Amino acid sequence: MAGRSVVVGVGHYLPQRVVPNSEFENTLDTTDEWIKTRSGIERRHFAAEDETTSDLATKAAEAALADAGLTADDIDAIVLATSTADLTFPSAATMVQARLGMTQGFAFDVQAVCAGFVFALSNANALIVSGQAKRVLVIGAETFSRIMDWTDRSTCVLFGDGAGAVVLEAQDGNGTAEDRGILATDLNSDGRYKDLLYVDGGVSTQSTGHLRMQGNQVFRHAVEKLTKTAETALDRAGLSNSDVDWIVPHQANIRIIQGTAKKMGLPMENVVVTVQDHGNTSAASIPLALSVGKERGQIKPGDLIVTEAIGGGLAWGAVVLRW
Ligand code: ACO
Repeated sequence: MAGRSVVVGVGHYLPQRVVPNSEFENTLDTTDEWIKTRSGIERRHFAAEDETTSDLATKAAEAALADAGLTADDIDAIVLATSTADLTFPSAATMVQARLGMTQGFAFDVQAVCAGFVFALSNANALIVSGQAKRVLVIGAETFSRIMDWTDRSTCVLFGDGAGAVVLEAQDGNGTAEDRGILATDLNSDGRYKDLLYVDGGVSTQSTGHLRMQGNQVFRHAVEKLTKTAETALDRAGLSNSDVDWIVPHQANIRIIQGTAKKMGLPMENVVVTVQDHGNTSAASIPLALSVGKERGQIKPGDLIVTEAIGGGLAWGAVVLRW
């Protein structure tokens, strides 16, 4: 017998306002065609002025709980991945905890930028397999529209707002790769690459700051590191690339997604792609893609999924799970 963390519910929330690429043509020297061709993005959602990350996260959490047929009383812990929390503190996770009416358990945020959800899943899995929690809500939620420099065409057209969530539950498995649930994880970071992707402000430097990115440099690291982390996690699970039913990648750029699938020897038919509709929602992009992939009828019980992400830090990683 082996303890496994099994996904028993998934949900997402996207703010109402949809912004097509063409809207940027009014204010920037850019075109719908450039954005589509270079990134695969066609539109993104932006939060309303009074809408915060914890608002989006709460709605995604409620959807995941409903999908699981559970209530907040059934949850022991919330792990929320975000780089755009409402306040410096308390954590967005504790704000979601209160909004859900959850008075038991514990909640905390995880910050690994675009790799945040993979880090959160891995931490939640560790809580479950070590017996510290039985059911964990794992959320990715972001309002990256708040940290855009709207005069920088090389970044502001790429990001969007949204939230996704899963409910993980402790279940017994046989300890084989046939088990449902999280089978293996792989986490990495290398702080020497800070200058490739960062926000030029923060509490200790007394400003909110704006996202700065050397996009082509990040691109150069992405395909290689994503392929390696996905294959390392698969290997740890005793599986290989040909066992994968779905790659559910971080949705930053369709060319990175295609390049990674190709390097892994998998066709795009095995990849859940949402970047055209959501843009890069950082830590929210993988749970959003899991939820949309299930809604579309792509992801089914028993499917083998590998999620992979890279972002600021650099930080990157992968999780292999059977749905
Ligand atoms: N419209 C028109 N032209 C533009 C735009 C725009 N919106 N943005 C940049 N350009 C121009 C540049 O100025 C440059 O012009 P120049 O050659 O005259 O200098 C030219 O287009 C090419 O720029 P590159 O940056 O080399 O273009 P590239 O093909 O690399 O595409 C992109 C840029 C889309 C940013 C790509 O590099 C990318 O997706 N990088 C990775 C992003 C990523 O994965 N980030 C990680 C996660 S994010 C996180 O952790 C928060």
